[in-house]
Amino acid sequence: MSTPKLLTISGSLRKGSYNRMLLKEAAKAFGDAEVIEADLDLPLYDGDLEAAEGIPAPVQALADQIKAVDAIVISSPEYNKGIPGVLKNALDWVSRVEGAVLKDKPTVVVSAAAGRTGGETAQFMVLHCLTQLQVRLMPGPAVLVAGAMNEFDESGALQNELYLKTLATRMQALRAEVA
Ligand SMILES: Cc1cc2nc3c(=O)[nH]c(=O)nc-3n(C[C@H](O)[C@H](O)[C@H](O)COP(=O)(O)O)c2cc1C
Repeated sequence: MSTPKLLTISGSLRKGSYNRMLLKEAAKAFGDAEVIEADLDLPLYDGDLEAAEGIPAPVQALADQIKAVDAIVISSPEYNKGIPGVLKNALDWVSRVEGAVLKDKPTVVVSAAAGRTGGETAQFMVLHCLTQLQVRLMPGPAVLVAGAMNEFDESGALQNELYLKTLATRMQALRAEVA
């Protein structure tokens, strides 16, 4: 098979985001691949904007990336026990693009958060929304990086062996799915 394409989607826009760090580890665990980082810095979904101008260019670019890749990994923080607005906004926009671009796309969802549950509630909400979009969710042991501010070193590498092992299990299953 040619080199697979992997899209990484962070539910946090922050440059120093722990979810971005977790995505780097996820991409590493996936193995040799063309890795593309999604940019969720999109306008807020607004039906009037859509009616006046159609799908905004950055949303179309994201949808095109989704279409072009073999697999997706999403890492999301938890905001007030829920899915961050930027990620929900992106899913809402993408769902408006013709052709159900997320349908059947092999996808793994993980999370990193400051709290003790590692963003479990948000992760379930992300999975719930993706079900509606007919994503091919790859099941497996949950990767929930709790107390995320203590789990990565200065270079952004994840330290905890158990998290790394579980992440590897999930990412190798994703790779096997697209092989
Ligand atoms: C608005 C807001 C709400 C938050 N709510 C939660 C929460 O419900 N549970 C939790 O574990 N952490 C919560 N946090 C802390 C985040 O988990 C923490 O900021 C985390 O580092 C964000 O992910 P990032 O590093 O990828 O940006 C919240 C942070 C913000 C800014």
